[in-house]
Amino acid sequence: KNLSTNNNYEYIRKIPLLNSSTESLPSKVCSYIEECASLCCPKDIYICDGSDTEYEHLLNFLEKNGTISPLPKYENCYDFNIWLARTNPADVARVEKRTFISTECKRDTIPIPREGVIGELGNWISPGDMDKAILERFPGCMKDRTMYVIPFSMGPVGSPFSKIGIEITDSAYVVCCMRIMTRIGKNILETLGNDDFVKCLHSVGVPKSDSKVEINSSWPCDPERTIILHRPDKNEIVSYGSGYGGNSLLGKKCFALRIGSTIAKNEGWLAEHMLILAITDPKGRKRYITAAFPSACGKTNLAMLKPTLPGYKIECVGDDIAWMRFDQEGRLRAINPENGFFGVAPGTNCITNPNAMKTIFKNTIFTNVAATSDGGVFWEGMEEEISDDVEITDWRGKKWTRGSKTPAAHPNSRFCTPIKECPVIDPGWEDPAGVPIDVIIFGGRRPEGIPLVYQARNWQHGVFIGASMRSEATAAAEHTDKVIMHDPFAMRPFFGYNFGHYLNHWLSMTKVKNAKLPAIFHVNWFRKNADGQYLWPGFGDNSRVLDWILRKIDGENIAVDSTVGLLPKSESFNLENLSKDVNMEELFSLPKSFWEKEVRHLREYFDMQVGDDLPTDIREELELLACNVDKL
Ligand code: GTP
Ligand code: MN
Ligand code: MN
Repeated sequence: KNLSTNNNYEYIRKIPLLNSSTESLPSKVCSYIEECASLCCPKDIYICDGSDTEYEHLLNFLEKNGTISPLPKYENCYDFNIWLARTNPADVARVEKRTFISTECKRDTIPIPREGVIGELGNWISPGDMDKAILERFPGCMKDRTMYVIPFSMGPVGSPFSKIGIEITDSAYVVCCMRIMTRIGKNILETLGNDDFVKCLHSVGVPKSDSKVEINSSWPCDPERTIILHRPDKNEIVSYGSGYGGNSLLGKKCFALRIGSTIAKNEGWLAEHMLILAITDPKGRKRYITAAFPSACGKTNLAMLKPTLPGYKIECVGDDIAWMRFDQEGRLRAINPENGFFGVAPGTNCITNPNAMKTIFKNTIFTNVAATSDGGVFWEGMEEEISDDVEITDWRGKKWTRGSKTPAAHPNSRFCTPIKECPVIDPGWEDPAGVPIDVIIFGGRRPEGIPLVYQARNWQHGVFIGASMRSEATAAAEHTDKVIMHDPFAMRPFFGYNFGHYLNHWLSMTKVKNAKLPAIFHVNWFRKNADGQYLWPGFGDNSRVLDWILRKIDGENIAVDSTVGLLPKSESFNLENLSKDVNMEELFSLPKSFWEKEVRHLREYFDMQVGDDLPTDIREELELLACNVDKL
């Protein structure tokens, strides 16, 4: 039935549409609202306009409800909107096991794993089972709640890169964070007109009466039945049961990466889990770099790095997601589709990331960090930045003493801050044409065997390096032990379609007309010595790695081919005034037994997980690596 012509919005007409009318909304938007409202049965509907008044109203509501509290240590914390939110302890991270992609054909979503093996490259659900999952959870789930409608743009409004979504949610916390993380408001509806948009339905849910999880009204959720569903062929996202950012701010992982990667494949571009930074060298030459590291492995830190090497300047374009496409001239151009940072708090301090510290004390919603008795925030890594006599309340709201076995802040606690607060934001960060990318970096948290930096010999080798990424598990999702997990392209939790097809898509970039393919590197800040100490000081000193990378692409003769790729020649690294003695030999060593194991792991992974969907080019690169390792 065509709702736009008969204006038959039965449900919306029955309940208050608080600040708008069906006549003033695009008919496709109205139909979507009608569909969601008749399913979820909210008490009223509110169309978000993105105004300051609206934001203040929502924050006020959240404060009254006990969801957020002000942080009076910071001057004008009300005027500058600095808030602390505490979630239900059962709702603190992305839930990868409950995240599904729905396609008719399973193999469009995931490679078929070897028999008896559990697939690790995403979860598939049939369209019928997706409908069933929705009908088991959503009917009436917004009873007594307001249904917020958030029109948002991923990417600068009007950029050819940008895409529009409508998120429907029953959480005011989600509205506030979406306002920070994306561009929201009435102007988005004007830009949208009657075009299609990505449909994003979210509810924090209502637990079943026999639920065993303790739920407090300040953070409603339904952890036992949480589910995150995606239907790429309909550009549709449905998320139930969690208010935590990665599960509820649907523009981010769900849209910009999972749905985004599928749209990108169909339209011939790339949607990646990558930071974008600008680096100006001492000669004044400015270049742009993207880098993919798995969650909680250093993207936000590198994106706003304060270089210790004199003469260098780094400016930030984005810290988590890059949408990239080749332009007419064959330059790869990238935009950051987001408008804010949703960054890991622990570890952030004035030494490790001074620019983040300057960013996050204005217009910020902290989630699950600890609080100090003088009304400030605290997390692991901030020990030097609070006075010794303040008392600390942990992320659960319990008294916490220094030296306690449990952390004060949840390891996945986050700050949610507008990008514009960042003191080193790149002036080109909102350029609708995107910024030109010269270098792509892959990396992970590898305590053993992987050198600080090496370069891929060519694009195909680079794609193999991305496919081979592994990293120690972090708190960003539900994984608890510190195992080394495969995380190809840092996209394992975010692939919107079959990883084998994704590899083919990357490999096909060589066929783009005039394509000037960026150079590809792999880095590892996290290698440890036998005593478990980091071999490399990291953070600001990572500028030394970027310096080597830039000199390398500028044609300096500073690399030698090795077993794994192009390694820095000895003495080619700028270690001037390095604060710490670094064992460069150990940092760059390639232990034979380690690499033999690595090749075995990769072969097994590709065989068990990707099987027939592994492109032959990648198979060949693996055999070449195996051969090289034999010769070590
Ligand atoms: P997501 O936002 O989850 O995608 O993660 P991310 O890649 O942005 O990670 P982030 O930059 O927030 O870093 C996560 C953790 O790694 C923090 O605790 C940092 O302190 C730590 N870290 C970042 N860079 C370095 C480094 O160069 N060396 C060491 N040792 N730790 C680092
Ligand atoms: Mn991320
Ligand atoms: Mn980050």
